[in-house]
Amino acid sequence: MTSTTTPPTTSPSRTGGLAQRLLGTKVADVLAGPHDVDHYLELLRPDWAVRRIRGEIVAVEHQNDDSLTITLRPTGTWPGFQAGQHVEISVDVDGVRHRRSYSPSASAHPRTRTIELTIRRHPEGVVSRYLKEHARVGMFVGLSVPQGEDFVLPDPRPRRVVLISGGSGITPVLSMLRTLTDEGHRGEITFLHYARSPQDLLYAEELERIAAEHPNVALLPVYTRQDATSGDPRSELTGRFGPEHLRRALPVDEDAAAFVCGPGALVEAVRNLWAEQELETPLRFEHFAPPVLPDLDPDQLGDVTFAGSDVTTAADGSTLLEQAEAAGLSPRSGCRMGICLTCKCTLNSGVVRDTLSGEIGGVPGEEIRICVSAPVGDVSIDL
Ligand SMILES: Cc1cc2nc3c(=O)[nH]c(=O)nc-3n(C[C@H](O)[C@H](O)[C@H](O)COP(=O)(O)OP(=O)(O)OC[C@H]3O[C@@H](n4cnc5c(N)ncnc54)[C@H](O)[C@@H]3O)c2cc1C
Ligand code: FES
Repeated sequence: MTSTTTPPTTSPSRTGGLAQRLLGTKVADVLAGPHDVDHYLELLRPDWAVRRIRGEIVAVEHQNDDSLTITLRPTGTWPGFQAGQHVEISVDVDGVRHRRSYSPSASAHPRTRTIELTIRRHPEGVVSRYLKEHARVGMFVGLSVPQGEDFVLPDPRPRRVVLISGGSGITPVLSMLRTLTDEGHRGEITFLHYARSPQDLLYAEELERIAAEHPNVALLPVYTRQDATSGDPRSELTGRFGPEHLRRALPVDEDAAAFVCGPGALVEAVRNLWAEQELETPLRFEHFAPPVLPDLDPDQLGDVTFAGSDVTTAADGSTLLEQAEAAGLSPRSGCRMGICLTCKCTLNSGVVRDTLSGEIGGVPGEEIRICVSAPVGDVSIDL
């Protein structure tokens, strides 16, 4: 585990004060033209912004070979977030701007004005791999406003809270746990977290400390590899989520809420059991990646035309976003799983399969989310 930090400096929102307010006016945009003021500030003072949000990396910690935690100091334009929300970050990789969503893992009542993100590297992933290898103190990334209104702690807080996560899906539920303990929540909190082995358990030391300091917090780490429980006396459950795990986690209380985030298989297993047992405790869930549908029949694959770019390519069954990128185009995207609407494009002709539901549809002129639309037959979109 390695870590690097820099001491906090004065908040740019305070040093900027009046100057930033003046720069934030429409008049300043007109004078600055052709770009907005933020475009020039990014070049001159990246720690200043009047409308856009940027974050400076002030600490980098490599949790293990696959995951890293970065701490960002946001510009004064950052509005704060609710536990469970996510934020879109943008980075330039080989001259192309990429956007991806990450869920802040810190408490929504942070002691310092920072944002903590924990990112798992995907072997083929563009942004997670880039950050794992290149994130450095002093580097700036673009940030969106916090997004997501469903996967957040309700207000007022439920008396009992069940948190279930797997792998890097720990981030939004850890934020909920940290937020609740910071608020002095007295109700019971059960945290069921799935990791392959004790070595893969992110935030192990902190989770142990929270459980030791808060008798109302029950921490149940579950190691999915058969032989992985050895060495962790808290691990009383093994294997994958099932009725026994549910029985241990679920409170007998009407004022309860449950949250699950992690790999698709875990989220689906929890949702299915919830439905099967007709549980009344509200369950909120979040996927980090869309579910994988069976491949289309090869006879249903045609040509894809990106009309605005004058590019036509043979469909390969992947989403229109992936095929556009493979064809060398750079469409805007954010969550890449149908949530943020950043990738919307007009369908000129043809039909598409919704990769979330499997439904086939679409009419010419309709706006479609190309990150979750795969072409069926010949398709043309306005990109
Ligand atoms: C609401 C939300 C919150 C998120 N929060 C976090 C977080 O806190 N920490 C975190 O590490 N990630 C989080 N993610 C996932 C993150 O946005 C990226 O999808 C992930 O980092 C991979 O991006 P990439 O550019 O490295 O891979 P890409 O270049 O986008 O994809 C490369 C390959 O990996 C596959 N892939 C992409 N994403 C995933 C995934 N999540 N699981 C499995 N396979 C995948 C793709 O199908 C593709 O084959 C979140 C996603 C969403 C939608
Ligand atoms: S990238 Fe978010 S909806 Fe498509």
